[in-house]
Amino acid sequence: MRIIDTYKEDFITFLNKKIKIEEPTNLYEPIHYILQLGGKRLRPVLTLMTCDLFNGTIQNAYDAALAIEVFHNFTLIHDDVMDKAPIRRGKDTVHQKWDLNTAILSGDAMMIMAYQCLENYEPVIYKKLNILFSKTALEVCEGQQLDIDFETRNNVSIAEYIKMITYKTSVLVAAAMKMGAIIANVSEEDSIKIYEFGLNLGIAFQLQDDYLDTFGDVKTFGKQIGGDIAENKKTFLYLKTLEVSDVEDTKKLLDLYSLKQRNQSKINEVTQLFLKNKIPEITIKEIELYTNKALEILKHLSISEEKKSILKDFGLNLMKRTI
Ligand code: IPE
Ligand code: IPE
Ligand code: MG
Ligand code: MG
Ligand code: MG
Repeated sequence: MRIIDTYKEDFITFLNKKIKIEEPTNLYEPIHYILQLGGKRLRPVLTLMTCDLFNGTIQNAYDAALAIEVFHNFTLIHDDVMDKAPIRRGKDTVHQKWDLNTAILSGDAMMIMAYQCLENYEPVIYKKLNILFSKTALEVCEGQQLDIDFETRNNVSIAEYIKMITYKTSVLVAAAMKMGAIIANVSEEDSIKIYEFGLNLGIAFQLQDDYLDTFGDVKTFGKQIGGDIAENKKTFLYLKTLEVSDVEDTKKLLDLYSLKQRNQSKINEVTQLFLKNKIPEITIKEIELYTNKALEILKHLSISEEKKSILKDFGLNLMKRTI
């Protein structure tokens, strides 16, 4: 077993070897740019770690880890277009630094490159990875579509929101882990459980992302603060406020969200409504709830207590993130 940081360092070394700027540079430079911008490397670390925890050959997990990270970064390029986001990881987004067409095409190329990363697996593993990857990729698109549809809907429930974030975010976290499990040839039972663990962790992760989008610090979070409010995103923070606030605050929030405006005063007013209604505290409780659901699943995995505690610590640390 390795410590978490070495998974990340070794993955970055692997990525640097594989991702090179080729011709035409207008296609490959943005790909190189986004992949070198950093990020937490959460998903590839989970692939490597899961393979290792189940006694798989970690060297065999790098290609799958890269597939996941390239796919994730592709979704970020297109997501930033869809969300009109100016900054990502503290730097210009691809469509901002280049233009819309560049963001579209470089993103498309990355999706294909992600599939190519899987080509060297032997047929049985290859088929399993491919089926899971395609299913996941399509679900991410479904989640992204729901996210956009919800911007203009006024009757979104928290249950629908959970479904939306499960698709846009959690399934990829869960698949990253399951791919590590597939490469390690684990039992069907354990692979289902590790997927469920990832799914709940992913929900906690997206709730935290929503929280940080309003209450984070741009210097560490690396994204525009208030971007979700500007875009009328039906986040947990917004939906919970509608649920707990009095008639007056409900009306204020609905009015503010009826505007398609990206100005700072709208962001400030909505943030004040969240604060007044104790939404930060409620959101943190919800993050804990889904993290605990994930930890509960760990109990039923057939790995040693020592290995379970590595996953447990990982989940608990993720809950405390500010980046
Ligand atoms: C951002 O993912 C998109 C979400 C699903 C919230 P990350 O927060 O993992 O982004 P990076 O890769 O660390 O920048
Ligand atoms: C992103 O959700 C999910 C995907 C990229 C598929 P967000 O739109 O909340 O992600 P950020 O906050 O821009 O990273
Ligand atoms: Mg976004
Ligand atoms: Mg988005
Ligand atoms: Mg977000």
